[in-house]
Amino acid sequence: MNHEIIEKNLGLMIPLIIVAISFGFLVEVVPLFFNKDMKTPVEGLKPYTAVQLEGRDIYIREGCHTCHTQMIRPFRAETERYGHYSVAGEFVYDHPFLWGSKRTGPDLARVGGRYSDDWHRAHMYNPRNVVPESKMPAYPWLFTAKIDHKTTPKKMEALRKVGVPYTDEDIAGASDAVKGKTEIEALVAYLQNLGTLIGNK
Ligand code: HEC
Repeated sequence: MNHEIIEKNLGLMIPLIIVAISFGFLVEVVPLFFNKDMKTPVEGLKPYTAVQLEGRDIYIREGCHTCHTQMIRPFRAETERYGHYSVAGEFVYDHPFLWGSKRTGPDLARVGGRYSDDWHRAHMYNPRNVVPESKMPAYPWLFTAKIDHKTTPKKMEALRKVGVPYTDEDIAGASDAVKGKTEIEALVAYLQNLGTLIGNK
């Protein structure tokens, strides 16, 4: 009965929805702001190098995150396959997060060091050359396209504003670090760094 009264009365339903959602926010989200683990980097965590950072941007541009997650959940089926589950401290310098929620391909949170650079290059050039049944698209243009070295320092400055501890030297050296590099070099550098700090299998 009471339910019907609420459902038929928008003036009542809207405030009650707001109360319900605020309560959820209060118990689920607010405590995270006070949890130190959420903001403390894991031991050894460094901001991405200029080259890795450009690789990450290519990863985003090419939409790799639409098929690959970067988050290993704490379940046996996941940790047996991908390695130690992901922890918040691994991502404190990530803007934006690339955790994802859909896996067409495998999780990549700990792919760093699992394959050689050459394997990645062959795989990115045409996945079917190394994994015959693969559905992943080929990315041959990454082998000729060069990174735009002019924007790298600006990207780092922006990240510094949101708390990534880049030094003035990091930023000053960023352009030279990526100059002349192909996109594939940057992407592989990024992939090889993923998840390498904790419990590699
Ligand atoms: C349409 C979905 C799709 C997209 C987009 C995609 N992949 Fe994949 N990826 C897959 C599938 C499926 C596999 C498993 C088969 C294989 O190894 O090729 C895979 C495998 C991989 C692997 C090997 C992982 C492992 O543990 O064996 C890497 C590394 C990888 N992808 C990187 C990338 C990168 C980098 C991009 C973006 C440039 C990308 N993928 C875009 C579907 C995708």
